[in-house]
Amino acid sequence: MSPDPLAFAVEVALQAGAILRGGFERTGVVPLLGRPLPVETKGSAIDLVTEYDRRAEEHIVERLRAAFPDDRVLAEEGGLRAGDRGGAARWLVDPLDGTTNFAHGLPFYCVSIARESGGVVECGVVHAPTLDLLFTARRGGGAYLNDRPIHVSDTDALVRAMLATGFPYDRHTHPDNNFDQFVAFQKRAQAVRRLGSAALDLALVAHGTFDGYWEMKLKPWDLAAGALLVEEAGGRVTGWQGEPFSVDHAAAVATNGRLHDMMLAVLAETGIPPSAKR
Ligand code: IPD
Ligand code: CA
Ligand code: CA
Repeated sequence: MSPDPLAFAVEVALQAGAILRGGFERTGVVPLLGRPLPVETKGSAIDLVTEYDRRAEEHIVERLRAAFPDDRVLAEEGGLRAGDRGGAARWLVDPLDGTTNFAHGLPFYCVSIARESGGVVECGVVHAPTLDLLFTARRGGGAYLNDRPIHVSDTDALVRAMLATGFPYDRHTHPDNNFDQFVAFQKRAQAVRRLGSAALDLALVAHGTFDGYWEMKLKPWDLAAGALLVEEAGGRVTGWQGEPFSVDHAAAVATNGRLHDMMLAVLAETGIPPSAKR
């Protein structure tokens, strides 16, 4: 019999986190800060990968496939792995979300693991090892940070809101780059942050640190666990035009609920770019 998926995801995320932390903190000189690591590039000159993305992913995928042999595993660096017998359940794995931060020695990075069953994300984990944060959620069971329940904020005006976003790796060359939207929100919000990890941005919306988040050109492994955290913490997640959320749709808005329609209105004003339409 397979183990409980959330308990297993937590165990594996902690192990993968230890692999990442080992790489990040290997000088051990300055608490929290790492030092620059060797990188390779992927699709574009600014889309990085390190040996630790690969090592953490190998560990996660190997353990998931051994424990859940009928499930599919969609992991960033390796794509869809089969054993992959077309089972109803699918794991979505970002072994290192925030690779650019990691590679530069900035501790805002995490492991993100979620399991989707029948097209619905049923549980998810976001673990930031250097920051010692473990976010967990089970559908219908609430959201937690280090085993304590968390809830979205109650901020109800953009002028009092701290928002987060990110920008796609093709932004040097592609016109759908989120720049217009960034400017529009900067003119209305108390603050807009770009911290470099979509999964942690979403987890921090769930925690109430951020009041809202939007981004485009994301992948299922960036979104799955964090979006469930937001929903289970009492927030709302949709597409940029208010469409029902799906991990397979690349543009998302996640808020505390109260700010949701206000954020959708700002996005509508800027004009929804083709890449953010369903
Ligand atoms: C990236 C981060 C970043 C977001 C990008 C993602 P990666 O993931 O989540 O914050 O803006 O869209 O691709 O490459 O570090 O796993
Ligand atoms: Ca990612
Ligand atoms: Ca990644």
